[in-house]
Amino acid sequence: MITVRHHAGEYNVVARPLSELFKELPSSSFILTDDSVARAFGRHLPDDLPRWELPAGEGSKNLTHFGRALEWLATAGASRRSTLVALGGGVVGDLAGFVAASYMRGIPYIQIPTTLLAQVDSSVGGKVGVDLPQGKNLAGAFHPPVEVRLCAEALATLPERQFVNGVAEVCKYGFIMDAPLSDRLSTSRLSPASPDLAEVVTRCIQHKADVVERDEFERHGIRATLNFGHTVGHALEQVLGYEELLHGEAISIGMVVEAELGERLGVTPPGTKKAVEACLIQQGLPTHSPVLHKVDPLIVAMRRDKKARDGRLAFSLLTHMGGCKLFDAVDESEVRAAIKGS
Ligand SMILES: NC(=O)c1ccc[n+]([C@@H]2O[C@H](COP(=O)([O-])OP(=O)(O)OC[C@H]3O[C@@H](n4cnc5c(N)ncnc54)[C@H](O)[C@@H]3O)[C@@H](O)[C@H]2O)c1
Ligand SMILES: [Zn+2]
Repeated sequence: MITVRHHAGEYNVVARPLSELFKELPSSSFILTDDSVARAFGRHLPDDLPRWELPAGEGSKNLTHFGRALEWLATAGASRRSTLVALGGGVVGDLAGFVAASYMRGIPYIQIPTTLLAQVDSSVGGKVGVDLPQGKNLAGAFHPPVEVRLCAEALATLPERQFVNGVAEVCKYGFIMDAPLSDRLSTSRLSPASPDLAEVVTRCIQHKADVVERDEFERHGIRATLNFGHTVGHALEQVLGYEELLHGEAISIGMVVEAELGERLGVTPPGTKKAVEACLIQQGLPTHSPVLHKVDPLIVAMRRDKKARDGRLAFSLLTHMGGCKLFDAVDESEVRAAIKGS
């Protein structure tokens, strides 16, 4: 069990087998999930709890579905004492968390992450929200869950591409703060059948918890270090649209470019990019995209990044394998050169 402390209290991340995943829920609980997850869980879903299903996919993380879910809670009779249960990947977790933050000015919610990405990343840390047509995650709040329930068995039905997508974030923790983890990932491919999967997931959550406890509201340049690979990755997602590359795939390519950038700037030791790239390839992740040739639109997208200030580009860069630091005024010409050199 991992305990995560935040500004208003704390919550536990607890492992549970599938057979006990929905046991001991608060008396007035409401489940928000998506149709693919509901299908995957089938008979394991409790049929005595009110349930709302979003259409699966990033396209549902918007104000329309946010509004519908709020109205469902009101119609179904949820009160200030009710608890929302977010059962699904990061899309469900982010939207349900924002619904919980808003309904009657805030009700408790429990995260039950069912993708690897949601288990190691989005379910912990309290960032919730939805996308706007103008950009991703532009409406949201900080609203920590009251509990996170982890179920390794839930990952068994996850499509392989979605599993590998989550491995990109696992690799990221290795690169930025855990050299033994990146060694482990360089040696053999992580899969739902890996005997050490639960241990790896727990290790990542512990890293995320440590970082968000030190900088919950992303004000001190600590939480932002979790964005290694993300400045370029988000730009790739924006330029390509969100269908072509999954988030983890985009940040995998982004980590290679940003390792190259770090080496160019003399921040990252020579040879690190090669090691990063080899590890990602070992895990079945992409390390290059033809979109990297479209340097101008990528730079425009990076300038819109939430970390960018006064037009200066910000990056979390590796100081060594297993360490990183935020750099908030990187020269555009260096970024262009790093993209071209990747
Ligand atoms: N809040 C945060 O701190 C944070 C951090 C990282 C990412 N995110 C957000 O997370 C989202 C991406 O999350 P994701 O990658 O989990 O995507 P997702 O929620 O869309 O899930 C991916 C797909 O897998 C399906 N699925 C989920 N669990 C399944 C299971 N057990 N079996 C079968 N199918 C299953 C879903 O229905 C969906 O089609 C993005 O919107 C991103 O912005 C948030
Ligand atoms: Zn990410």
